[in-house]
Amino acid sequence: MQVDVMTLFPEMLLPIANTSILKRAIKNKILAVNFHQIRNFAKDKHKTVDDTTYGPGKGMVLKAEPIYLCFENICEHLKTKPWLIYMSPRGILLKQEKIVELTKYKNIAILCGHYEGVDERVIEKIVDEEISIGDYVLTGGELPAMVLIDAICRLLPGVLSSRECFMEESHYNGLLEYPQYTKPQIWKNRAVPKILLSGNHKNIKNWRYKRAILKTFKTRPDLLIRKKRNNN
Ligand SMILES: C[S@@+](CC[C@H](N)C(=O)[O-])C[C@H]1O[C@@H](n2cnc3c(N)ncnc32)[C@H](O)[C@@H]1O
Repeated sequence: MQVDVMTLFPEMLLPIANTSILKRAIKNKILAVNFHQIRNFAKDKHKTVDDTTYGPGKGMVLKAEPIYLCFENICEHLKTKPWLIYMSPRGILLKQEKIVELTKYKNIAILCGHYEGVDERVIEKIVDEEISIGDYVLTGGELPAMVLIDAICRLLPGVLSSRECFMEESHYNGLLEYPQYTKPQIWKNRAVPKILLSGNHKNIKNWRYKRAILKTFKTRPDLLIRKKRNNN
């Protein structure tokens, strides 16, 4: 998969792409991530990318034209139009199902807003969907873009050692994950549950399922209601 990110702050994104699993996925050519500086597509001498909002209100809005030209440039290079996502607190709330859906694309582009946001007309003209990472407002779309890329990356074939790594994780099947333990067997008088040492895989699977339900019930009962609705 290739992801092209349009941003005013590529320097914020590079260190994340150069770390841990993302770095390895890029090195192994499972994922390519390119950062495009929107400012390079501003035509005036001062490379202006933002301006004041029409109507009363403070704050600057990103201009339509540099974003449009930046996206045209990406399309020209790719010789295709990638699925374009605008990271926005007004978008649909990001869920694991959406991440799974996005892994099917070969090319994705992401627009990161800043300041008060982006001129609505360029959103109408080129954006395919708006995605929010949560019901709060950040200063820019850069962290949300990297959240999206990171979550997609770990589902791409070859990134994690096996599909089981994510198939039993929180949210993949609508539940939160069961508790996990590692060595030592006893830590500060707390022992690892005996069943995990039993070697009986069937019993361990049942125990984990029950603990996953219990955790979900305690912290996110809404997920259980949703899962029941989806199963009917
Ligand atoms: C300060 S925000 C603009 C908020 C906008 N005025 C509003 O009220 O919807 C600047 C940029 O940060 C990004 N952003 C902020 N919060 C976000 C969130 N929860 N999810 C995704 N992107 C977000 C968007 O790209 C947005 O254009």
